[in-house]
Amino acid sequence: MDNFTFYSPTYFVFGRDSEEQTGACVKRYGGSKVLIHYGGGSVVRSGLLDRVKKSLDAEGISYIELGGAKPNPLSGLVYEGIELARKEKIDFVLAVGGGSAIDSAKAIAFGSLYDGDFWDFYCGKQGQVTKSLPIGVVLTLAATGSEGSTDSVITNEDGMHKRCADGDVLRPMFAIMNPELTTTLPPYQTASGISDIMSHSMERYFSHTRDVELTDRLLEAVMLTIVKEAKRVMADPSNYEARANIMWAAMIAHNNITGVGREQDWGTHHMENELSTTYGCSHGAGLAILTPYWMNYAMKHEGVDRFVQFATRVFGCQMNFEDPETTALEGIAAFQNFVKSIGMPTTIGEIGGKPEDAPKLAAGMFHEAPNHGHFVKLTPEIAEEIYRSAM
Ligand code: NZQ
Ligand code: ZN
Repeated sequence: MDNFTFYSPTYFVFGRDSEEQTGACVKRYGGSKVLIHYGGGSVVRSGLLDRVKKSLDAEGISYIELGGAKPNPLSGLVYEGIELARKEKIDFVLAVGGGSAIDSAKAIAFGSLYDGDFWDFYCGKQGQVTKSLPIGVVLTLAATGSEGSTDSVITNEDGMHKRCADGDVLRPMFAIMNPELTTTLPPYQTASGISDIMSHSMERYFSHTRDVELTDRLLEAVMLTIVKEAKRVMADPSNYEARANIMWAAMIAHNNITGVGREQDWGTHHMENELSTTYGCSHGAGLAILTPYWMNYAMKHEGVDRFVQFATRVFGCQMNFEDPETTALEGIAAFQNFVKSIGMPTTIGEIGGKPEDAPKLAAGMFHEAPNHGHFVKLTPEIAEEIYRSAM
């Protein structure tokens, strides 16, 4: 096991009606003038935004609002939010929504305290973010784990490059997680979230670090839970217990408790950034497409052992001792059948891509960003090969 540090200070409030505690949570973490940030309007239509405001009113906390964060959030609104936060002397940023509203809120929260361009932290000019306004979350979508993570992913409209900034200060002070709020999601978004949770586990599972038994088993627990609950929630979107297990699994999958002490990959995530920015698919749909093709490449070049373990322990494939590669391949096929069964696409063609796009996708990924992947160190040539195989 590798050396590591792990700091996860987020206070989680989980369960039915938990959004009623928003005001008390903001107060607990010292917020007095709040910027409420949300997406395209689902929280307005559901009445959640009104309930959140009522809870802030009850604690005598003042607030202003900025909606409009798009799925795969854009830099333009972040600049707008930073200006607003400075002008209004905001001391707390509250995201109400999914990963996109949260990530945009994180960028506004630290960007408003930074003298330079907030993008410096995404393009690699600056290292980790170390100073930010406090952030709180009322979550409406189980997927990214941004409610407990150190990350913020933003797309710069200047060239449409999607990049990640990180830092412990980007972990929210609190996250309110009411699984009932996710019952209004369209099936495509529920499935995209499920795919993202699987991917966060797989990016950590495929590792060259040896003897990481505990985190292997934690990752398997998350994946087995998701495979089981995905079936229940897709058949019955109002199933509270399935929604609850998926919501907590999403957080566990990406606050990094399952990833400490081991090399992690993240090549598929970096490749996915190009699909969501080029074709406008959801993050989870892009991952569902790419992961099996990345696995195929990785298995052939880095050895079958981890893939055999994945196949037997997560998808219950029978071990073929004479030809372990067939077991590994069965696991990859089982994973692909799983994402297909919940309605995710399995080729880039299905989201509008053509084989001739592959070089452009690889070039976009490597634009001012030379390092991708650890289990498999990606080069532009390897990335292009994987994109091409996924067409
Ligand atoms: O914008 P609104 O109107 O709210 O609608 C959203 C959006 O259209 C809708 N939605 C959300 N909750 C809903 C709902 N509709 C009905 N009922 C609800 N309860 O769903 C759509 C997608 O929302 P979005 O926030 O974009 O989805 P998600 O949570 O999957 O976030 C994806 C973004 O997070 C990034 C992704 O790259 C992508 O940009 N990621 C962030 C990470 C992090 N910060 O740690 C890690 C991930 O790997 C990921 O990269
Ligand atoms: Zn993800």
